[in-house]
Amino acid sequence: MNKTLMTASALGLVLAGMAGSVLASPDWSKVPSRNVTVFHPGTSGLEWILNGVEHGGAKGLKKGERCTGCHEDEKKHTIDIAADKIIKGEKLEPKPLNGHVGTIPVTVQAANDGTNLYLHFTWKEPKSGGEKMDKDNPVKLAVMLEDNKVVAKDAKGKEVQIGMAGGCWGTCHTDARTMPGADDKKTKYVAGGSLANGQFYDLMQWKSGKGAKPVDGYVADKRVMEGGKALVSAEGKKDGDTWSVTFTRKLAGGGEGDIALVSGKTYNMGFAIHNDHTAGRFHHVSFGYSLGIDTKADITAAK
Ligand code: HEC
Repeated sequence: MNKTLMTASALGLVLAGMAGSVLASPDWSKVPSRNVTVFHPGTSGLEWILNGVEHGGAKGLKKGERCTGCHEDEKKHTIDIAADKIIKGEKLEPKPLNGHVGTIPVTVQAANDGTNLYLHFTWKEPKSGGEKMDKDNPVKLAVMLEDNKVVAKDAKGKEVQIGMAGGCWGTCHTDARTMPGADDKKTKYVAGGSLANGQFYDLMQWKSGKGAKPVDGYVADKRVMEGGKALVSAEGKKDGDTWSVTFTRKLAGGGEGDIALVSGKTYNMGFAIHNDHTAGRFHHVSFGYSLGIDTKADITAAK
């Protein structure tokens, strides 16, 4: 490589770094936050969730209630105690994650500047020490966005607005890979999903592994880990025992499976953390939350 070229590319790197982190990222100490508990869901896929015989919440979901309506309400049924049982294999989990905790409390913040959406997640690394399923990545964080369209049907054909009510559960089926007895090639999907009919989730993922590239994809009739053009950067770091991850994402989107986020509108969001080298369904997931762009929601991305 000649000298002029090298200097030009080095300068490019510096500028890209500045645009990604120093210039654009908001001062998170000034942004309101929402506490979200992520938990190990075991094998509670959509079919389990919508089956009223197994899940007490199925009836409520069909009436338009959301997961958080019951599971964040101490008078109803918070998930904490159950998640500790699930992770130990006492219910909904044939393959216990020994040494792991059932829940992880996460602080979620959002902001926008008219061009980009910024999502910021912080949490303390919990106790762990199980099997290293993903050797390359100690930690991964995935976010799914949805535009109020995804519908799920129970065994009798009754519809639930699952994108709105239940975040990522619209993609999580009991016949997907790593579920007991499932085909190892079957990824998460939306039943009847396609980009054309709007029945899909926009997906992005940050990975902590050295040199790992962030993912900008989507989930429609299957999971696609590429094609998006919205994600500008996904950066994460560990300070002491605290992880923080920031996504910078173009509001307008523009690629395959990118939802265009419009000021004044509300979308749905769910996220999952693969803690301590876990993979597949062995993540800690959130329920569904509304994300408002310049408008009040569970999580508000204000200017
Ligand atoms: C109307 C209230 C209600 C709603 C809405 C609801 N649930 Fe539940 N859920 C319950 C109750 C009650 C239980 C405990 C008894 C049982 O298993 O049926 C439960 C149990 C669970 C469990 C098993 C662990 C445990 O706590 O026993 C999971 C996982 C779960 N719900 C996930 C969800 C998800 C995901 C959604 C949204 C898609 C949801 N629930 C919506 C009431 C609700």
